[in-house]
Parts: sequence; structure tokens; C-alpha cells
Amino acid sequence: MDDNDTPVRGSDNMVSQPSQNANSYDIIDIGGSKLRDYLLAALQRDFLNKKDPEVPYVSDIFTSSDEGLELWSTITSLPTWYQTREEIDLLRRWGPDIAKHVRPGTSLVDLGSGDVKKITPLLECLEAQEFGVTYYCVDLSRASIAHGLETLSARRYRHITLVGLWGTFDAAKLYLDQIASPRFLASLGAEIGNDTFDSARADLASWAAKMRPGDQLLLGLDGTRDKTKIWKSYHHSDVHRFIRTGMASVNATLPSPWFRDEDWVLDGEIRTYPEEFSHRFFFTALRPVSCPEAGVSFSPGDRFECCESHRKTPAEMRVIFKACGLNEIQFWKSPVGDMYEYLLVLQDEP
Ligand SMILES: C[S@@+](CC[C@H](N)C(=O)[O-])C[C@H]1O[C@@H](n2cnc3c(N)ncnc32)[C@H](O)[C@@H]1O
Repeated sequence: MDDNDTPVRGSDNMVSQPSQNANSYDIIDIGGSKLRDYLLAALQRDFLNKKDPEVPYVSDIFTSSDEGLELWSTITSLPTWYQTREEIDLLRRWGPDIAKHVRPGTSLVDLGSGDVKKITPLLECLEAQEFGVTYYCVDLSRASIAHGLETLSARRYRHITLVGLWGTFDAAKLYLDQIASPRFLASLGAEIGNDTFDSARADLASWAAKMRPGDQLLLGLDGTRDKTKIWKSYHHSDVHRFIRTGMASVNATLPSPWFRDEDWVLDGEIRTYPEEFSHRFFFTALRPVSCPEAGVSFSPGDRFECCESHRKTPAEMRVIFKACGLNEIQFWKSPVGDMYEYLLVLQDEP
């Protein structure tokens, strides 16, 4: 996890130095420097002290370490990793249409910006519209934000101002109040609303509660139901390595390291209940694992889950949108697969 102690200049505003002749940018600490507290709270909520039959769960936020994000960039180029390729194809094909919904002076807030590969086609379309837009990239990883902004600043945009927001989505929700201009929230790569029906509804409702009339939410979600394609994408050695790097972050967050690779086998499953189509990874203990200092104790055969990911059809998503006060004004489908981009506003907006 990029939880470094970089000195902060000014109040909470960290100013980075982009290379010569490129756009300048700021990275604002909206709580990223206190990431360990957030991670610990996530473990206390989802992983530690679970009573039967609850299965302990490790959130995918633990894969956002420097090592994890480096691996992520490799994964997104794998031939089997269709998710990134199909969404980028969508954004290249439909970027000009999507950009037409963005008005002058808008603040584009990219939730979980990662390596900025996906947002770039949209930024290119916005630049071509020749009016001012501010691009805020939100991420847990400061290294990722700095790398992303450095990449974008080299493009020397004339109409796009670049700002990094280092912190969690919850912190970004609060920061939205400070942005007076219309906000265009972008969740690419299923960052939000990627959950069971009830949790997805609660998640999207919490974003809807922060939206004002005139704001928009662009929601990218995977609707693929091809089990072989999904399985092949997740069960590649690089992806398994990526999942295991998340456990190194869990070790670093708890008071004592307890997870050793050799004690655990990693596998996955696709669940197809009437109201759910999901994939999740799980680790199964090969031998007793006990670490009182970290608060964990597992018997051989015990398991815990991680990195859950859901697939919903547009019809299923529409039920959720309606239930959380959002109105879909348009949606776009990837020209090469079942990846969707939904454009949402508050209900009852003209
Ligand atoms: C898997 S990458 C995807 C990046 C990009 N959205 C894409 O689709 O290619 C997820 C990114 O979101 C960030 N992220 C995940 N959960 C987050 C949270 N709760 N708050 C802030 N950033 C988060 C991670 O650090 C990571 O860079």
C-alpha cells in the first residue's frame, strides 16, 4: 500500500512536479495518508471475528499496493483479460457520444483511476471539444495517481486541468461537496455497483445521495455471462499472483504477519443463483493457521473469500437504478463484448 510519509506542503495539498513542458497538477491528500486505519477497519468489518456460518472476506482494496498495481498493468494486457480490452474498445467507439454529455466547466471525477488507460480515450474526446474541464482522479494509491497524472500531463492538454485526490471513495464522496461545478462521476472497470443486488443498490444509492441536479454518473459494468471466458480471465498465474499480493498487504496491516503462501491454496468459483451471477476467489487452509497477535485462527479446510465480482444484465441494472433514485439517460455496449457504460442522472431530472 502506498502509505508513505511524503511531507505535505501547504495544508493538505501536495504539489507534484511534472516534467518540463507538460501540464502541471496537484495531488490533494483527502485521507490517503491515513490509509492503514481504513484498511484495518475493513478487516475488522469483513474478516476478523466472523461467526459461523459467515465466511471471512478480504476486500480487493488490499491489492492496491505498489506491487499489486504494477502486476495489474500486466494483467490488463493479457489476451484472456477481456475486461479492460472490451471497455477500452467501448470508450474508443462511443467516447465522442459520451463526451457530448459533458458541459463546459464540468468536473470529471474518475473513481479508482488506476493506470488511466481507460479514461484516456474519453479525455481525448473532451479535449477535442475545446472547452475547460477539470479531471479529478481518485485512488487509494498515491503512486498510481502520480504515475497516471504524469502520463496525462505529457499529453499537454490545453483544456483539461489535472488534479489527483489521494484517498478512498468514502473520502471522495465528502470531497464532492467542495466542487461547485457540475460533477460527472466516472466509475470505469466496475469500481462501484459491482455487488449483490442489495449491496449494489445501497452503494449506488449512497452516490445518488451526493449528486445534485445536473450531475451525471457514468457507470461501467461487465454483463458477460460466458462462464469459460470469465474463468479463463481470472485463473491465469499472473492474476493469482496479484490476488496473493493482496495478502501481503493484509499481513502489513495487522499487528503480526500470519499469512504464508505455502499454507493456503487459491481457487475460485462462479455462482449462479437466481439473483446473482458472480465470481469470487477463495483461499483454503492446508494446515492449522493460528496467530493470536493478528486475531486469526483457521483449521485445515477452513476458507476465506476475496475479490468478489458480479455480472448483471442491463435489465437487472435497471431495477437497481430505479430502486436507488437514478434514471438511465443512455447506455452504450462494447462493440466486442458485453461490457456496458450506463449514463445516470437523478430521477425526475428533465
Ligand atoms: C483494478 S484497478 C482499475 C482501474 C480503472 N478504473 C480501470 O478500470 O482500469 C482499481 C483501482 O481503484 C482503486 N481503488 C479500489 N478501491 C478503492 C477505494 N475504495 N477508494 C479509492 N480507490 C480505490 C485501486 O487503488 C486501483 O487503482
